Amino acid sequence: MTVQEGAKPQGYAGYCLRDIPEEDPELTHTGPGTPMGEHLRHFWQPVCLSENLTDLPHAIRIMGEDLVAYRDKSGQVGVLHRHCSHRGTSLEYGIVSERGIRCCYHGWLFDADGTILVTPGEPPNSKLKDSFLHGAYPALEKGGLVFAYMGPAELQPDFPEFDGYDLWDNRLKGFSIRFPCNWLQVTDNYMDPIHGVFLHSRYNGIHLTPAWDEIPVPQYFEVGDGEDVIYASVRRTSPEMVWLRCNHAIGPNIGEAGTVWEQGKSESYFLRVGNTRWMMPIDDENSVMFGWAHLNERLDPDRNRDESMIGHNRIDFDAQVARDTYEEQQRNPGDWEAIVGQRRIARHGLEHPGATDEGVQMRRRQMRQAIRGEIPGALPKPAGQNDGPILTYTHDTVLRIPERSSEPEDRKLLFDVGTRLTEVMLEGDAYRGIERQEFVEGRFKDVEAEFAG
Ligand code: FES
Ligand SMILES: [Fe+2]
Repeated sequence: MTVQEGAKPQGYAGYCLRDIPEEDPELTHTGPGTPMGEHLRHFWQPVCLSENLTDLPHAIRIMGEDLVAYRDKSGQVGVLHRHCSHRGTSLEYGIVSERGIRCCYHGWLFDADGTILVTPGEPPNSKLKDSFLHGAYPALEKGGLVFAYMGPAELQPDFPEFDGYDLWDNRLKGFSIRFPCNWLQVTDNYMDPIHGVFLHSRYNGIHLTPAWDEIPVPQYFEVGDGEDVIYASVRRTSPEMVWLRCNHAIGPNIGEAGTVWEQGKSESYFLRVGNTRWMMPIDDENSVMFGWAHLNERLDPDRNRDESMIGHNRIDFDAQVARDTYEEQQRNPGDWEAIVGQRRIARHGLEHPGATDEGVQMRRRQMRQAIRGEIPGALPKPAGQNDGPILTYTHDTVLRIPERSSEPEDRKLLFDVGTRLTEVMLEGDAYRGIERQEFVEGRFKDVEAEFAG
């Protein structure tokens, strides 16, 4: 209920506030034929983990489509429509074969591209199998995730390459986290650096490091053709040190984040991405975050990560998956509880966005513009036409810059540091790989000297 200007708000307004508006279908609905669903289908999307592909088929549901994924005995990965095109039995009960997957009911054998290889009960001269195709999507494995391209064949892009992902012997390990709610809530959470202070630090337990407790000075920058956001959150972690955390939201549903173990106590320069995540709709009321954990010495020099904690519905840092009991969920909620707690599909008509929701609002606006065709570069280029690796901007940087004499001056300083570091980072776009890394590190040291002086 909106209170008219100058009027005194009246309490106990529950009776007038009972109506629940409809969800926002343009952004939340992703089934076949919906604007957002079609937009997402123009990109390679993760559909399951490599570890899910065993000697048995794996039933999956992606953007409202029931599918089956498998790796046949020759190593070829298939992502097929789940129901057999003979008489509809689910291929999750099928037999993973030397080549393709065989339906359990009458033994029809399907190849990864949807070709029907054999129909053993039909007469030997039958032409039935050559007269149609089974639904199939191109699929591949990368970094422990299985990806599929579910869009129009003529627009299929190359699988994206990300600049810097191969530095320092970096290894990628796949993980997934399932949420019984709409996918956009998981995306919104990623765009909100302020919840790190409250949800993760002050009220429910310290989920990450003590450095997260300080309220950051955030800034949001649109990059690419206006389809990406980078946001810098700058905190003072001691009278001497300043920590900048920069995250990069890429395309419609990728979010890169830095390491969660940053203490902000000693210098670091352009410490790159700790995990890359895809927020993936299962259907309109369920979603799954697929991610790559980045494992390299530079990111975690003192840490022996327990890799068995990175995989299907598990990740090796706190507050990501559902707590074990309802009481624990209530006493110590994390991201999972906060996100799922926004209803199965959050109702934007009931929200009251504030200054701290700038990132969420920016991202939703970009998505709307992208699906309405208002951002020319929002779609990937078809295969063979891309301009090289995607430049990603996620980093943690800790600089030695002494505190200013008053809090307002120091907050202004933090803002200026965020602006300046982002500007000089973008100068590095002229370079690739280790050259880009070295250029940006060098410029960050210049900025440190500039502000420390
Ligand atoms: S239903 Fe699959 S082969 Fe008959
Ligand atoms: Fe969080």
